[in-house]
Amino acid sequence: AEVIIVPDARDAGELVAEAIADLVAGRPDAVLGLATGSTPLPVYEALRARRSATDLSRMRGFALDEYVGLAPDHPESYRSVISREVVSPLGLDPDRVHVPDGSLSGIEHAGADYEAAIGAAGGVDLQLLGIGTDGHIGFNEPGSSFASLTRVKTLTEQTRRDNARFFDSIDEVPRHCITQGLGTILRARHLVLLAFGAGKAAAVAAAVEGPVTASLPGSAIQLHPHVTVVVDEPAAGRLV
Ligand code: F6R
Repeated sequence: AEVIIVPDARDAGELVAEAIADLVAGRPDAVLGLATGSTPLPVYEALRARRSATDLSRMRGFALDEYVGLAPDHPESYRSVISREVVSPLGLDPDRVHVPDGSLSGIEHAGADYEAAIGAAGGVDLQLLGIGTDGHIGFNEPGSSFASLTRVKTLTEQTRRDNARFFDSIDEVPRHCITQGLGTILRARHLVLLAFGAGKAAAVAAAVEGPVTASLPGSAIQLHPHVTVVVDEPAAGRLV
């Protein structure tokens, strides 16, 4: 992977927003892989700041993951988060932006349907990734197969604790999710993994420099030919 160490998250956001703007300049209906959580927010913010220069209305998007069992209109469902933090502020076309279906009624088909939709779109051009403190990418928790496709997974206690900040209490954090698999993620043409803060340093070092192992799902990026890792100094702190 190419590792770029930036002074702060804002610089990372600008760098990655520029790469996305270049992609869309070449092909207005390019496919962006969207991540949620705190990490990608500076990218979305930088894209919003360049809205007058970059028309994103034809860009297509696929989110990495969704909680299972939250009402779709729950403010913390990733469908709601993507709508609020990405689609509306960036002027994307809501019909071109997809989030896995985490509703219980559709759960049996949701994974295969999502894979089919990504395939029909021609695959993901640039996939934004954060990384969990336990090394997950998407919600592929430790032990996930490198060949896995979109499917239902159980969230680890650590991830539920990490994400409790978005809910009133940890009891409200769902126990299950539907996530693109590591195999799905590895099919994207360019992976851009972002991480900020010392809390991510161990996961970043393990993903970039550690053994390639299902125990650290982020290490799957080492199998991909085109990866850019953008980190601030604290998150780079354990890289050799
Ligand atoms: C979110 C996702 C997760 C997060 C990771 C880091 O769609 O797939 O892998 O990227 O949990 O979360 P933050 O960015 O909130 O630290």
